[in-house]
Amino acid sequence: MADSATVFHGTFVHSTKEEDMVIHSDMVIGVKRGKIIFIEHETSLPDLMSEYSVPRDNVRHLEKWQFLIPGLVDTHIHAPQYTFAGSNMDLQLYDWLNTYTYPTEAKFKDLTYAMDVYSKVVDRTLKNGTTTACYYATLHRDATNLLLQVIEKAGQRAYVGKVNMDCRTPSFYQETTEESLEETEKFVESTISKKNPLVTPIITPRSIGTSSEELRTSLGQLSQQYQLPVQTHVLETRGDLATFDHLHVWDKAGLLKHNTVLAHCVYMSEVQLDLLRQRGSGIAHCPNSNITLRSGFLDVRNVLAKGCKIGLATDVSGGYSSSMLDALRSASQVSKTIAIQREERGENYKMLSYKELFRLATLGGSEVMGLDETIGNFQVGKDFDAIVVDPLVENSPFDVFSTDTFSDIIQKFLFLGDDRNMIDVFVAGTRASGR
Ligand code: GUN
Ligand code: FE
Repeated sequence: MADSATVFHGTFVHSTKEEDMVIHSDMVIGVKRGKIIFIEHETSLPDLMSEYSVPRDNVRHLEKWQFLIPGLVDTHIHAPQYTFAGSNMDLQLYDWLNTYTYPTEAKFKDLTYAMDVYSKVVDRTLKNGTTTACYYATLHRDATNLLLQVIEKAGQRAYVGKVNMDCRTPSFYQETTEESLEETEKFVESTISKKNPLVTPIITPRSIGTSSEELRTSLGQLSQQYQLPVQTHVLETRGDLATFDHLHVWDKAGLLKHNTVLAHCVYMSEVQLDLLRQRGSGIAHCPNSNITLRSGFLDVRNVLAKGCKIGLATDVSGGYSSSMLDALRSASQVSKTIAIQREERGENYKMLSYKELFRLATLGGSEVMGLDETIGNFQVGKDFDAIVVDPLVENSPFDVFSTDTFSDIIQKFLFLGDDRNMIDVFVAGTRASGR
């Protein structure tokens, strides 16, 4: 009965456009061909089972304290940098790029090496509940195709970008403008021809400094021609503020669109945030990276007040953890650090709540990627990207007490939980697994 519906019965937690976190108990969610076909109270289960001819074995009754959350959305991650995640954390951005990052990425010419690293990063992120990832690969088209194959086999949802860089990088890791455009177009065409709704090529000029104006303009045209999302790094360090308006440069090249993902944006002015909102582009907030590389603190409260789209990201390996729960915790610490700084100045600051952080990691991320019609929460018609969380799993990293409420347990999971608690990870209704 491959084509019959499956049903999840129990509690689910998600965000909506109106509310950062809603808990629904005693519910049934029906899933067919990867999509949510109904969300009802459990009292309707018998009727729904007969209406949709659901076999008894296709109903999964969640156990006590288990609950469903939407899959986590990592809006910015460098797959090749996973090689050195958790090490090489002593330098700031530009030294870090030259000393560790470019030499590592250059090694992805070697497809055997690439296969090993890419299998591991996809496996690790999926285990940790990243159902959707916005990946940077390297300059190499072959290796980027390998990453794509690994993702497809594992069943992850992803944007995958062949990186573009035609200036100001070491000669061992640079391409000409012509090569960059040719290889990107080939990558785009071969990826589109797969017709896999879960994987999308993304136009990926790495940064302003590493792209010529010609490259940026041509990539802008390519992204329009194929209707593709775009990603880059923007205003990550104080030094990036220097001389000209970075956001305006991207806009001029036609690269600020409703599905443009801008990593960092730590040093964005109010005027730039206004432009971002007008264009509908979103911010990938990378708090672990911003601390590890000592770049700065993004004021998420201000971004939200401006009405801009924002999600969370690991930025592996500027950020040392590939877990989106870590990104959520780091975002909390950054927000509290800003609160401490403001309080020292006698100002009030409303730090991010756990509910807001949860929204950023799920629905917020889907908005940034322009995917909020498809994923991000539980809604009839959306794809079923979900994690079954078990707080009582053997060897759980946290404890549950008789006095705990359900909201206590959700918070403990967000701040102390890990992949051991994520007993099943679904992408478009199918259990995803790396290896
Ligand atoms: N800016 C340009 N490239 C990178 C990168 O790989 N990581 C980070 N964090 N910032 C960048
Ligand atoms: Fe990055």
